[in-house]
Amino acid sequence: MSPDVNPEWWKELFDEVYLATDARSVCDDEVTRREIDLILELIPLSPEQEILDLCGGHGRHSMELFSRGFKKCTVFDYSQFLLDRGRAEAERQEKKIAFLQGDARNTGLPPGRFDRVLVLGNSLGYHSSPEGDRDILAEAMRLLRSGGRLLLDTVNGETLRSRFHPVAWHEIGDDLVVCRNRKLDGDVVFTREMVVSKKSGLVKDSRYSLRLYEPDSMRDLLSGVGFSGIDVTRDFSPFREKGDLGFMNFRMIVTAAKP
Ligand SMILES: C[S@@+](CC[C@H](N)C(=O)[O-])C[C@H]1O[C@@H](n2cnc3c(N)ncnc32)[C@H](O)[C@@H]1O
Repeated sequence: MSPDVNPEWWKELFDEVYLATDARSVCDDEVTRREIDLILELIPLSPEQEILDLCGGHGRHSMELFSRGFKKCTVFDYSQFLLDRGRAEAERQEKKIAFLQGDARNTGLPPGRFDRVLVLGNSLGYHSSPEGDRDILAEAMRLLRSGGRLLLDTVNGETLRSRFHPVAWHEIGDDLVVCRNRKLDGDVVFTREMVVSKKSGLVKDSRYSLRLYEPDSMRDLLSGVGFSGIDVTRDFSPFREKGDLGFMNFRMIVTAAKP
């Protein structure tokens, strides 16, 4: 781990500024709809099934699933800010969705409670050692009923490496500029992200890291915690616009089953 990156950076990053810097990915209903279209193709759902949106942020996928008649959704995330935002929006839209706070490595939820566990929007690879990711997947396994399915959506490390851009920036509206400086070190990408307001200067300067997985290393990780029937769809992108969409482009969608 780079000395500049707090190993628990993920406990602090997911706030109002994240919703602005990543709005192209996580606040665009059309993008979410395309993601749900693919999920439903890969692991068909039925309305009575219990779905866990693990590391679900502000619950955009659960909201879309609810709209399509899948009403037994639970969003679980660490960020109280995102959960509060999601809960308020769900109440406004009269969608009965549970929003729960905690660490995905040890949720405290009863075993075998869910038919489906979804880990979407590149929410793995945040921990300073691979054991953290392993623990999240082992917890997903524990929470699934026998025969239940996992769907995991992360950046495909293979493609990201081959198109690696050390510097990227984009504007948000008239005022904000997001600048990202990245360094690839083995399996981990270290990023410094600065958000600057043209009117008032620095808004946020943060550092984070992401462990990259490739189809083979993800298969190994999943089979190591007992998943079977592992299948990988490569290089999915829900975006129509071009540009550097950070780690939200070139995703691999992995499905697996609890025996
Ligand atoms: C990039 S966001 C994606 C959120 C959501 N899945 C989406 O697509 O909009 C990653 C989320 O993972 C959550 N997260 C990462 N590690 C976690 C952990 N160990 N426990 C709970 N939440 C975690 C963060 O709080 C954050 O909301």
